[in-house]
Amino acid sequence: MSDSAKPAPYSPLAMALEAYYQGEVASFHMPGHKQRSGRYPLADQVLGAQIWHADVSEMGGYDYLHAPQGALVEAQQLAADAFGAGETFFLVGGSTVGNLAAFLAYASDGQHVALLRGSHRSAYAGVVLTGAIPHYLPMVRDTARDGWFVADPSAIADLPDSLAMIHITRPNYYGMAVDLAPWRALADRTGAVLVVDEAHGSHFGLHPAFPRSALQEGADIVIQSTHKTLGALTQASMMHVRKGSKVNVDALKRALPMLQSSSPSVVLSLSLDLAAAEIRAEGPALFAAQLALTDHVRKAIGNIPGLDAYGPEITDGNITDYDPSKLVMDVSGLGLTGFAASAWLREHRKLYVELADHRRIICSLTLGDTQASADFLIESLQALANAPQTERQSLPALDLGIPPQALSPREALAKPMETLPLAQCTGRISAEYIIPYPPGIPLVVPGELIDAQAMQSIEAFMQAGSKMVGPADTSMQLLRVVQLSGN
Ligand SMILES: Cc1ncc(COP(=O)(O)O)c(C=O)c1O
Repeated sequence: MSDSAKPAPYSPLAMALEAYYQGEVASFHMPGHKQRSGRYPLADQVLGAQIWHADVSEMGGYDYLHAPQGALVEAQQLAADAFGAGETFFLVGGSTVGNLAAFLAYASDGQHVALLRGSHRSAYAGVVLTGAIPHYLPMVRDTARDGWFVADPSAIADLPDSLAMIHITRPNYYGMAVDLAPWRALADRTGAVLVVDEAHGSHFGLHPAFPRSALQEGADIVIQSTHKTLGALTQASMMHVRKGSKVNVDALKRALPMLQSSSPSVVLSLSLDLAAAEIRAEGPALFAAQLALTDHVRKAIGNIPGLDAYGPEITDGNITDYDPSKLVMDVSGLGLTGFAASAWLREHRKLYVELADHRRIICSLTLGDTQASADFLIESLQALANAPQTERQSLPALDLGIPPQALSPREALAKPMETLPLAQCTGRISAEYIIPYPPGIPLVVPGELIDAQAMQSIEAFMQAGSKMVGPADTSMQLLRVVQLSGN
């Protein structure tokens, strides 16, 4: 059967849109474009005439994300079934909003929460917005692979007995996954809600070759960027609640409308429904094809001397699974840093990687790839093998310590601040994040004391050439600290 002859997968939101247009529609309300194409040829040319047609709103009687009653209830339930959840919420502000909503719903001022030191900035934002007291799980240094990828579960012993929330990121950006069992056990012991940021793992659990999903592993709430690894539009994500979880779903329902636009895009939620419909209709065949492409590329990479793609051998110790669709390639054997490899591919092949660090590049192969795109990647990597060598970068062989917390992040950010030369900041409370890239893990966050060890780490990463992110003065000559009381 040709693609065009295939029956369309069932999408309640697409059907609701069709129903909306049955008969004459006269819109005298928002959005201002009134669903009419043809007003600006350039807009039609760039966005396609159809987008205006799909961008309807609740004012015309279409279902409303903040008070779903019809098609959205069905679409979210069908998505929950497809992803194995009890309940699913469509998010139009990305997983960023999912993380914020989880914090707002389950952590409040002065409550204790545990999260990875290598969490996404939206989790850090959740800590600030709620006023929760964070307990960070330090990232372990992987000496063999020269990086900090996952947290050390033995850090559980140092956590307080009373925790409102445990927030774990799984997988990391490199597609590495950890065992959730110790975190599930901790959640059961402390009564905390177990939230998993699965932004990079929407496809997990949907094919046996992918790692099991966090829902299958017992997380209470799972947040996925459907737009990152499946077919939804950018910004379209989902938040799932596990079937049988005891979490109070009403708290999430109260939090979401506080964080998302009161005019949630129908186009974004439609794209989520269509992504879920595609999986329900053809998931196994599509994932099998994706995995066949991934295998093809992996085999070809195996024949490029100097290029090393991470595979099952990385699953030892704390890393218990890996995502085969993330091609994490160590380019140090080519005499390149990941940054130089990424720049070379961009300049010479117009090929853009997902991430580069001091020794790796990551390319992800998704349902959107084709034999042609996979072959182009292979040819480009073969060409990269002849790129001129660059100066290698190595990161400090340090344990990333966590400085003592003098104030909660929210308290620190609410205090008067002053800006001082870095050298005068030892012993002061930071009012800024100090995050070296690579590895993208904070050395200091607001409220923490810049002790001698933190200062040494800052200097070591600056010397190693890491770009400092967070401080207003990224050259790090000056730093904002909390004013001493009495000043
Ligand atoms: C681990 C992690 N969590 C959350 C997010 C936020 O996702 P979104 O872009 O869907 O808001 C990201 C984005 O890169 C991420 O890497």
